[in-house]
Amino acid sequence: MIERVTRPFRLPSHSQHAMLLALAFLVTACSDDSQERRRSLGDTPSFSEFMRVADAGRGGRLFGQCAACHTVRMGAGDRSGPGLYDVVGKPVATNSRRFGYTGSLRSLGGVWTPERLDVWLAAPAKFVPGTSMSFRGLPDPLDRADVIAYLQTQAVEAEGVEALPSRP
Ligand code: HEC
Repeated sequence: MIERVTRPFRLPSHSQHAMLLALAFLVTACSDDSQERRRSLGDTPSFSEFMRVADAGRGGRLFGQCAACHTVRMGAGDRSGPGLYDVVGKPVATNSRRFGYTGSLRSLGGVWTPERLDVWLAAPAKFVPGTSMSFRGLPDPLDRADVIAYLQTQAVEAEGVEALPSRP
């Protein structure tokens, strides 16, 4: 007896997920010029070269990954992480007066220069063992540069200069 296949061909759900992810990635990748910017940088770009081509607008979208724990608008306060308005250039572990920073972050000392933010955001727990920022990090240096450029726009100095919309 011949068995007839009546069910239409369907992908198993995990491949559907994979396809959706690939599609989402393509849409994201195509909606900005990050590939072009990467190519313009050559083989071993330095941090300042990444910053030179950084895109604060894309950084604002990437900030979505931080927004679960951080606000970035003036006076918006803390979530499970300290408010980040005007954090670039501030002494480490001081951006929020009310936030309970870990001893690990407080003892780091120094100032949040863009270079330091780059190291921190790559892998927080590696840079500051014992930190309570339970975020895996941004492995891509262009992503980090974009986020740092965005943070620079959410600052007293940039007020009125940049008209980028603030994220929550
Ligand atoms: C899961 C929650 C969480 C996520 C996601 C997260 N953070 Fe944090 N962040 C924290 C916490 C908690 C601290 C305080 C760490 C400590 O005291 O050790 C912190 C601290 C910081 C600080 C230091 C602030 C200061 O006053 O010194 C910066 C800068 C920062 N985060 C940036 C980011 C950025 C940018 C992202 C997204 C790429 C991000 N964080 C994602 C929870 C988070």
